[in-house]
Amino acid sequence: MADLDSRQGHRYDSPEILAYLNDLHAGHDTGLASAFAAPELQGLPAIQVGMSEGKLLTLLLRLAGAKRVVEFGTLAGYSAIRMAQALPASGRLWTLELEEKYAAVARENLALAGLSDCVEVLVGPALDALPALESKGPFDAIFIDADKGQYDLYARWAAANLRPGGLLLVDNAYYFGQLMEQSPDAIAVRRCHEEAVQAFDTVCIPTPDGLLLGIRK
Ligand code: SAH
Ligand code: DHB
Ligand code: MG
Repeated sequence: MADLDSRQGHRYDSPEILAYLNDLHAGHDTGLASAFAAPELQGLPAIQVGMSEGKLLTLLLRLAGAKRVVEFGTLAGYSAIRMAQALPASGRLWTLELEEKYAAVARENLALAGLSDCVEVLVGPALDALPALESKGPFDAIFIDADKGQYDLYARWAAANLRPGGLLLVDNAYYFGQLMEQSPDAIAVRRCHEEAVQAFDTVCIPTPDGLLLGIRK
């Protein structure tokens, strides 16, 4: 398939195609609609995952049979709801958010989605929460989507706290198209990729900003 891989620069999508497919395959119920709209309505940055990336999180977690999941970066709870929708009744998601205000918005959206009982929003710098969180592991899936400058540390923690066969997911794997630059954040995201290949079987899915997928060895 070298020919297909070498079709550099060809894209077959369009805004019309993507809108049709997002609606058809990845549409919103009440909770998802609220969480997706919340950033713009409530003055948060509108940097949640896309509709199809969100649905991909749901399906990948279902495929993995995930019961215990950690998320780095909650924002308004959109990806948290997408992942919690994959959990069985006994499942649990711990989601880490720096900003108290964003965490409050996320908790409202999780309540609207009927998911308050299975999702815990932990407020503060993610690194501070990790030592206590370790006792809840090992985990079945970990989604990294918080501050890019610490992606390497988060990936190392994920390698140490996922079960064999557990799923690593990392948003913004292209680092907004700046992955090959020499900034500290770009270097941290590259180190995250390089950490991941040591401990996981990996692929980088070509979403608009790249989604790293790994299965723990
Ligand atoms: N996963 C969310 C989007 C997350 S945006 C979704 O798709 O719906 C990135 C989030 O990471 C922001 O809410 C930001 O406040 C949070 N963040 C930034 N630095 C952090 C840190 N050190 N610890 C925890 N969260 C952090
Ligand atoms: C930003 C963060 C994200 O996780 C994302 O998907 C898009 C943008 C940001 O910090 O600007
Ligand atoms: Mg992101």
